[in-house]
Amino acid sequence: MNKILVVGGSGVLGSSVVATLQQEQADFLSGSRKPIKNDSYSVVSQSTNTPWQRIDLATGEGLRQALEGVDTVFHLASAPTKIGNEPFDVVATRNLLNALNQSDVKHLIYSSIVGVDTIQYSYYRAKRSAERLIQASQIPYTILRATQFHNLLDFAIGKLLSLPIGFIPRQLKVQPIHVDTVTAELYRLVQAGPQQTIINLGGPKVYDVGTMTQLWMKARNVSKPVIPIPTVGSLMKSLAKGENTCPNKKAIDSADWEEYLRETYG
Ligand SMILES: NC(=O)c1ccc[n+]([C@@H]2O[C@H](COP(=O)([O-])OP(=O)(O)OC[C@H]3O[C@@H](n4cnc5c(N)ncnc54)[C@H](OP(=O)(O)O)[C@@H]3O)[C@@H](O)[C@H]2O)c1
Repeated sequence: MNKILVVGGSGVLGSSVVATLQQEQADFLSGSRKPIKNDSYSVVSQSTNTPWQRIDLATGEGLRQALEGVDTVFHLASAPTKIGNEPFDVVATRNLLNALNQSDVKHLIYSSIVGVDTIQYSYYRAKRSAERLIQASQIPYTILRATQFHNLLDFAIGKLLSLPIGFIPRQLKVQPIHVDTVTAELYRLVQAGPQQTIINLGGPKVYDVGTMTQLWMKARNVSKPVIPIPTVGSLMKSLAKGENTCPNKKAIDSADWEEYLRETYG
């Protein structure tokens, strides 16, 4: 196993990747602006002895030092924000690619999202632009598009049900995947080497949000009126059509939504 840099190692996916690399006793470094992220949608735990270096992708700060001796880079840093007039993911990916051009890195692995090529949503358009920058670069790459992680959907449903009456877009489709299954695929890609392509990976079942909400309410013992929100606008229509799913690329070893809820809430 070669040396790995995990850019965005403090996030939800990054923490899972870091835990696997620690378990596998891999030679790695985690990079982000803070060693531990506590403003994420999910509480992430990380051991205090994680090798970490401050990196700011908005400016490129810390990248040159972090890339010393590195062979493989996981690019897992992302934010739905803007830097000046440009989306964060575009600026961040461009800064990372500029630094990679001056390095000996042999494989860049980028985490993207299923449906970024068709769904009209500004964050997804930014992810697709970042993919294009990587595809046009000279850096050997693999792009892994995953569907939504369980803990993001858990957080989102909790928000939708936070008022005395819940408002739920029942008809939208989701194919939730366990974050550790995405990590296992990312780890496999390190060993497989650059694929120069985009790989899709989704959870074992496609659900509608109405069913997921009912299961969530049962698991958490929540009872309240739920009013369906109509499917309006191009984003919701794409999600109702399942453009964010990949039923032909199911990770059968991922927990499904029911299993995740049982593991998390008993
Ligand atoms: N969540 C999902 O359901 C899902 C599904 C499919 C694909 N993905 C993709 O998987 C990746 C990871 O998602 P996630 O859910 O783990 O995100 P997350 O928990 O929000 O973590 C984002 C990471 O980006 C880092 N970051 C943000 N701004 C930065 C900056 N200026 N410089 C350096 N690092 C910065 C954060 O660290 P600091 O804030 O400390 O810098 C953090 O480590 C993303 O590319 C996302 O699009 C997510």
